[in-house]
Amino acid sequence: EKEVKILAIESSCDETAAAVVVNGRNVRSNVISSQIDIHTLYGGVVPEIASRNHIERINQVIEQALKDADTTLDEIDAIGVTYGPGLVGALLVGVAEAKALAYAAKKPLLGVHHIEGHICANFIENKGLEPPFLCLVVSGGHTHLVKVLDYGKYEILGKTRDDAAGEAFDKVARAIGLGYPGGPKIEKVSHEGNPQSIDFPRAKIVDGEYDFSFSGLKSAVLNYLNGCKMKNIEINQADVAASFQCAVTDVLVDHVRNAIDEYKMDKFAIAGGVASNGNIREALRKLCQEKGVEFYHPSPIFCTDNAAMIGVAAYYEFINGKRDDLTLNAIPNLKL
Ligand code: KG4
Ligand code: ZN
Repeated sequence: EKEVKILAIESSCDETAAAVVVNGRNVRSNVISSQIDIHTLYGGVVPEIASRNHIERINQVIEQALKDADTTLDEIDAIGVTYGPGLVGALLVGVAEAKALAYAAKKPLLGVHHIEGHICANFIENKGLEPPFLCLVVSGGHTHLVKVLDYGKYEILGKTRDDAAGEAFDKVARAIGLGYPGGPKIEKVSHEGNPQSIDFPRAKIVDGEYDFSFSGLKSAVLNYLNGCKMKNIEINQADVAASFQCAVTDVLVDHVRNAIDEYKMDKFAIAGGVASNGNIREALRKLCQEKGVEFYHPSPIFCTDNAAMIGVAAYYEFINGKRDDLTLNAIPNLKL
């Protein structure tokens, strides 16, 4: 059987990434150039600065990915690229690059959905994982509970009505003075805090059992901080962080529990940047143990934005016969 070798490109937010993936599950290289240091100065991702950094770095990142995989553009079978959702200017850099390479080297081009990429990250280290399974995608831009029916076939059970889970982490971190990116910092200080010290709300959505809402929780944290300030009470950063993290974890676990029960799923996977949170991961692992459900999660390097996961998704599209032409464009609000 012939090998299918995909060159994948990801530039939807603040990571410039390229990877070479063989037969969907074998990652030959995975190069990520993070801009976090730059955006930290501004307390969050500045779109125009992200685009400008992508354009400076992308050729080098791709060259490194090919080199690490000990291959050349000539030997590549297809080029996969994230074309949405994400920051439009950032996406355009990757899409234009992929189109230029596909045109020059006469290679098939495949546009990949970023969230599909996050889901597919689970296939990299779990060679035996196959659909159907339940997947919770929690990142800075998305919170989706998805039934993965087959490769490339998804049923969205619920998603966030307002803030994404990671966004809430980032906003709360900023409010308690931890800075950007908030997720890892909240997780770290939470170890010193009492998660039961403050009773933050766990939002339930009446007309959408599997939808999420995190803006109320974020407001509750801000109100709590304001209340402390007015009463001249010193806040305990670790207690706030731990109580907030506990509220997010409870909501995620609650939704997953209901979906496992209702849809009788026997496999569950998490994905996205927030999936590297140990507290959330262990709570979901425990839930799966109780339910007799197989639990999957990617290593942190495949949770965060990367191109290897895009290469996996592109492979399954490629073998299903999907091809994009050179009119491929960036779609910032692309639906799954
Ligand atoms: O998947 P990702 O790298 O980019 C998006 O597609 O959004 O996710 C980034 C998000 C950020 O909001 C970041 O704060 C969050 O993931 N994150 C975490 C942790 N590590 C990253 N949130 C909670 N705990 C973590 N350990
Ligand atoms: Zn992402």
